[in-house]
Amino acid sequence: MDVFWARVVLVLLAAPSAVFSQRDVPNVDDFMRRGSSRISVIGDYIYFEGGEVSQGTANYRMNDPVNSTLSIDLSRSWRPSDVEIQEIPKPREMIRMTKQSIITNTSSGSFYSWGGHSSWFADIEAPVLWRFDTDGEGGGSWSLESAGSRSSSFVDIERTHSAAYASTPDAGFVFGGQSTTLTSLEPRGYVAGYSYWNLTTGEWNVDSSGPYTDDGTLYGGTATYVPTFGPNGIIVVLGGVNNFEAEASDTEYVDFRTVHFIDPVTRRWYSQPTTGGAPSARHYHCAAGAESTNGTFEIFIYGGANRLLDTDYRDIYVLSLPGFVWSQPANINSVPRSEHTCAVVGNRQLLSWGGLDFNDDDGWRSHDPFPQGLGIFDMSALEWSNEYDAEARPYEAHQRIRSWYDDGGMDNVQWSSSDVEQLFAVRQEDNGNQDNQDNPDDRQDGGDNQGNPPPDNSGGSGESSSVPVGAIAGGAVGGVVVLALLAFGVWFFLRRRRRAQQQQQQQGPQGYKPPPYYSGHPEAEAGKPSELPAAHAISELPANTYPVELGDGSDGRRWA
Ligand SMILES: *[C@@H]1O[C@H](CO)[C@@H](O)[C@H](O)[C@H]1NC(C)=O
Ligand SMILES: *[C@@H]1O[C@H](CO)[C@@H](O)[C@H](O)[C@H]1NC(C)=O
Ligand SMILES: *[C@@H]1O[C@H](CO)[C@@H](O)[C@H](O)[C@H]1NC(C)=O
Ligand SMILES: *[C@@H]1O[C@H](CO)[C@@H](O)[C@H](O)[C@H]1NC(C)=O
Repeated sequence: MDVFWARVVLVLLAAPSAVFSQRDVPNVDDFMRRGSSRISVIGDYIYFEGGEVSQGTANYRMNDPVNSTLSIDLSRSWRPSDVEIQEIPKPREMIRMTKQSIITNTSSGSFYSWGGHSSWFADIEAPVLWRFDTDGEGGGSWSLESAGSRSSSFVDIERTHSAAYASTPDAGFVFGGQSTTLTSLEPRGYVAGYSYWNLTTGEWNVDSSGPYTDDGTLYGGTATYVPTFGPNGIIVVLGGVNNFEAEASDTEYVDFRTVHFIDPVTRRWYSQPTTGGAPSARHYHCAAGAESTNGTFEIFIYGGANRLLDTDYRDIYVLSLPGFVWSQPANINSVPRSEHTCAVVGNRQLLSWGGLDFNDDDGWRSHDPFPQGLGIFDMSALEWSNEYDAEARPYEAHQRIRSWYDDGGMDNVQWSSSDVEQLFAVRQEDNGNQDNQDNPDDRQDGGDNQGNPPPDNSGGSGESSSVPVGAIAGGAVGGVVVLALLAFGVWFFLRRRRRAQQQQQQQGPQGYKPPPYYSGHPEAEAGKPSELPAAHAISELPANTYPVELGDGSDGRRWA
């Protein structure tokens, strides 16, 4: 073949890829979905790390690993459709991970990417811990953290994906997750309990306790640090599922009606039953929370999936502390999603980034109704907004939540123990001159944290009022049953799925089939019920007793 014809052949071969090239930040029309990524809020920027992105072409391989760390400036207002997203290239040797855990060291302005599973079967190597140092301008750089000569370091810790994680001012916690050949050289399956990293001493430790499930494992749950209650704050672990195999009869979704939380310093677990309509059982939801101007702390739960019911959820729920009362905003026009991530930004805005919708297709192939995958929810107004407002006022709990306290809701809380009652009796800023029986020497000095940005999972603290919640509640008349106000009708419904059909259509000319772990979602299920009793959605029925035959059971690794 002469040179001319060789060139023609080369040009023809190159043509399809010249038509469309994959980008870490596709333009807004090409963008389809982001999933399984993680975020960290440091200073004026939100950083977005890992996961995969799909974009608009009939490419056989829709979801590609993201090769940059992304950031958005939070000091300026923007709309998702024209937001400027910075791209910070990642080192070539950094294996592209999804569903990892992020530990944020707010005092040094850095975050760490730990564990996760490699994207697209990339080989996994010996444990490494990547550290990202922010530069204060939305950029930064990655470096490898050395294991050092500590008595215990990350090399001793099992790497997992889909763990629940949270950072406190001086520690990072990773609860559960699953270890597979894509996370670890010696995978151990579902990991019971949690590991924690003391950011001051640099020591890693493990603890096998996890009271949320019978076997202590947790997959796809969330952890939210709440700095304002107890001597050391608490970490609230919500949702997720245990040692999950579709055919295992011990499959157990975590019931949102009982909340488990841990003191990050004493590492003692507590639990407390909730009132109001709790979310139905789910994993792969997102959670983030903030302290209100009245001293309550609300954790927002958005979306998530229940694969036994073959559903991605669109609903938002709010857990208000210290009342342990759930409520659900009425009539909000949400979009279903799972495998997204959330943070509180700009005082009172819940930012949701990414998310897949497996209700209608394979999750990656639809255009996300959120431009660039970015949703902004006003936590005070309880409505979606089409704009991020950098000047938003401090977070004030919605009137419905405040009136629950005004009407004496606290008087009716049935505390699980006097220890739990005591943890919530006084807010952190108020307990300076009180004796506290739990390790008074370990008490975190609230003053130390004043100048620092809020940790990953907790939002802007707003202007803290110094009025203890007890006093707010005590002034109220009491006895009025207002839970009805918080119980809003079930407004989402389950659509009949034709996934089996659709997937056959979508497998494409190349005969491409998603790998079994592909995005963590199952293949199509045939013959499952198209609708469920509405009661499931507001959890009037036990949330952890779904019949196992609803799972398809075709592949034990489909959750990986
Ligand atoms: C990231 O890099 C890999 C390897 O070069 C490539 O296959 C993939 O398409 C890139 N991802 C994006 C979103 O461009
Ligand atoms: C966290 O940041 C503080 C302040 O820069 C530093 O002293 C500490 O070593 C950091 N911890 C880790 C584990 O990086
Ligand atoms: C981390 O270690 C320091 C120094 O020993 C200790 O004061 C602090 O309580 C520890 N933090 C956690 C969360 O264990
Ligand atoms: C909540 O705080 C606002 C202002 O911060 C105040 O006007 C209001 O009275 C407070 N409500 C209660 C119930 O304390």
